[in-house]
Amino acid sequence: MTNYTSVAGHPSAEQTAPSPPHQRRFGWWHRVTAAAMLRRWAVAALVANLAIVVTGALVRLTASGLGCPTWPRCVPDSYVAQPEYGIHGVIEFGNRLLTFVLAAVMVLTYVCARRVADRGARPRVRTLALILLLGIPAQALIGGITVLTQLNPFVVALHLLASMALIALNTVLVHRAWGIPRQPVTTGRRALVRVTFLLLAVVVWLGTVVTGSGPHAGDHGAARTGYDPVLVSHVHAAAVYAAVAATVAGVIWLRSRAAMLLLVIELLQGAIGVLQYRMGLPIGLVMLHLLGAGLVMVAGASYLVSVGPARSNPQPTVAELQHHPS
Ligand code: HEM
Repeated sequence: MTNYTSVAGHPSAEQTAPSPPHQRRFGWWHRVTAAAMLRRWAVAALVANLAIVVTGALVRLTASGLGCPTWPRCVPDSYVAQPEYGIHGVIEFGNRLLTFVLAAVMVLTYVCARRVADRGARPRVRTLALILLLGIPAQALIGGITVLTQLNPFVVALHLLASMALIALNTVLVHRAWGIPRQPVTTGRRALVRVTFLLLAVVVWLGTVVTGSGPHAGDHGAARTGYDPVLVSHVHAAAVYAAVAATVAGVIWLRSRAAMLLLVIELLQGAIGVLQYRMGLPIGLVMLHLLGAGLVMVAGASYLVSVGPARSNPQPTVAELQHHPS
């Protein structure tokens, strides 16, 4: 049932009427999935998406990628980890279990999004939430192919890139759910913001190439790309310089807070990148670098949706539509 509750907490006429018996019986479900809860679930989903990137990194960095040597079962005759695979089995199986936590949060987010009346506003929160929900089985499948290809570095890279795309989309959902207003800017300035985001996507993609060429394969016998890790690290860093330069231009030209926040996160992440490179890739720093990559995606997507067209009739936010459902 559609319940056009205000995200800002203003109940609709529908809400003030006495609820039917089935709603009273499942009152807890209606409370948990009320439209007003979208803001919280969208943030929870973003935290869960970032967390699964970090736990995925733990799998790779502890060489536990084949701790469950098959998929969808963990071992040929069981879905759960077996003692002969030791701590690696526990780590890989634990990461598989986390998918269910993320799925539960995403289902709740999607149900809330369906109850929000955002007709006319783009992108629609329900479309975003649906893509994020469908991203979970897609990622489970890519994760399965990762195992079945014995951690092929290009499939491992695709697995991380898909997570990064979901993090960016989840950030847009958070913006829409909270009704964060866009700064109206000229076409040229919007182009700069888009180019900056594109450069960040290239940085992240090149990062996965560096990883696929480096020592942390996820299993001691896993294949590598064969590229020179030093050379690809330099190409990765060069793309970072370009992204940082574009962000600095945004800070100066747009005087935007979102650009400033992105710049700070990029510089911190860049420093971690240089440090881990010079120190021979210690596990702790590499994990921090992955969390940083996720945060760069959050800040980059926030920057992207922080600007809108400079026209007299700006697109309404979800929160505005909640107040004036048409
Ligand atoms: C905005 C800044 C940066 C972002 C967003 C970024 C992002 C990433 C990503 C997504 C990965 C792949 C992680 C994986 O596949 O598990 C990666 C790996 C890597 N990055 Fe960066 N990076 C940045 C800056 C730097 C800088 C300045 C350096 C310095 C050389 C650097 C060095 C590395 C290295 C050596 C790896 C491979 C780590 C491994 O083998 O596990 N990064 N980066």
